[in-house]
Amino acid sequence: GNYTITVLPGDGIGPEVTNEAINVLNAVASRFGHTFTYHKRLVGVAAIEAEGDAISDASLEVCLQSDAILFGAVGGLASYDGRHKVKPEQALFKLRKGLQFFANLRPVKPLNSLLSASPIKSEVLRGTDLLVVRELTGGLYYGHLEPPVPGKPSEIRQTEQGAVAIDTLLYSDAEIERILRVAFEAARDRKKKVTSVDKANVLSSSVLWRQVANRVAADYPDVTFEHLLVDACAMHLIRKPTNFDVIVTENLFGDILTDEASMLAGSMGMLPSASLGTRKTAHGRLGLYEPIHGSAPDITGQGKANPIAAILSAAMLLQYSLGLKSEAAAIEAAVEQVIQEGYRTEDLREEGAKVLNTQEMGQKIAAA
Ligand code: NAI
Ligand code: MG
Repeated sequence: GNYTITVLPGDGIGPEVTNEAINVLNAVASRFGHTFTYHKRLVGVAAIEAEGDAISDASLEVCLQSDAILFGAVGGLASYDGRHKVKPEQALFKLRKGLQFFANLRPVKPLNSLLSASPIKSEVLRGTDLLVVRELTGGLYYGHLEPPVPGKPSEIRQTEQGAVAIDTLLYSDAEIERILRVAFEAARDRKKKVTSVDKANVLSSSVLWRQVANRVAADYPDVTFEHLLVDACAMHLIRKPTNFDVIVTENLFGDILTDEASMLAGSMGMLPSASLGTRKTAHGRLGLYEPIHGSAPDITGQGKANPIAAILSAAMLLQYSLGLKSEAAAIEAAVEQVIQEGYRTEDLREEGAKVLNTQEMGQKIAAA
C-alpha cells in the first residue's frame, strides 16, 4: 500500500539512528511492494533556531495528516547553551500532549545471542519478555497544567527562605483507567499478567491509582494481577525479570524503570517504543515511534550510536500504525540474524564481536 510517515530526526544521534531506520523501512518497501512517503520536519534545536519553537504548529499538523511519526531524539547539545527561551525537550511534551499519545509501550525482550552483553547473569535473563506500559501525558511530568500547555513553566522561585521548587503529581481516575485498560488488553495478547507499579505507601496519587487499578482488574478475570511498589520493582527487574509480563506505571516511574530495563537487553541502544492514543488514520492508529534513549551528546557524530532501537521502533510503527505485521516481523528477524552473526555496535562490544559503525549496522540489517 501507500503510506505517509512524518520523520522528526531531531538532535544529537537522533538523525544518525533515524537514517538507518529509514534505510530499513525502504528495504521493507521494496521487498514487500509498499510505498512509504516521508515528510521530514525539524524538531528540537534545529526547529528552535529555524522556526522559533521546538516543534512548529505547521509540523504538528503534518504529523496529524500522516499515518505515523518516526522520531529520533531531542536535547542535550553542547552548542545549545540556553540562547533561546524554549527548551528542545518541549517538542516531546507538545507532541505527546498535543496529539494525546497517553500510552507509551516499551517492550523488553533480550535477544538470546545478546545475553552475554548484559551485566545481568544469562541464566537470570533467559526467557525475559516484558512490556512496560508507561503513562505519558500526566503524572510528575505535567503537574497541574491543563492541556494543551506544552510542559510546564520553571517552578523554581526565590523566597525569603531561599529558592524553592515545586512539581505536582496529579492523576484523574479517568487517566488512570485508560492506561490500565491498555495494559490489560496488551496482557491478553501476551502472558496474561499485569503488574501495576506505584508508591501507594507514600503518594496519594498512587492510592487512587491502586483503587482504579483494582476496579479495572475486575473486568479482566482471565489476567493475573498484582501491585508492586516502584522501589521494589526496580529490584525485582534485576533479580527475576522473567516474573514480569506487562508492567503499567506512572510517567516518571516508567521512564526510570525502562532505562534500567534496557540493560537487560544489553544497551540503551536496543529498546524501541510506541506512543499511542485514540486518534485513527486510514490504516489504523496514529502513533509516534522512537527509541527510549535520548540524543546521546557524548557519542554524537562518532558512528558509535546503535541504530537498533530506532530500527525496532520502525518495526513497531509498521505493526501498530500501518497494520503490517509480517513486515514488522521481518525487521525483528533481520535484527536477530545480524546480532546472531556476531555483528555489534560499540555499546555492545564483546570479545570476538565484529564491531560496526551506525551506518554499517543499518545497512547489514536492511540487507538481511
Ligand atoms: P541518553 O539516552 O541520550 O544517553 C544515555 C547514555 O546511553 C549515554 O552514555 C549514551 O551514549 C548512551 N546511549 C544512548 N543511546 C545510545 C545508542 N543508540 N547507542 C549507543 N549508546 C547510546 O541520555 P542522557 O545523556 O541522559 O540525555 C541526553 C539528552 O537527551 C538530554 O538533553 C535529554 O533531555 C535528552 N533525552 C531525550 C529523549 C527523547 O528525545 N525522547 C529521551 C531521553 C533523553
Ligand atoms: Mg528515559
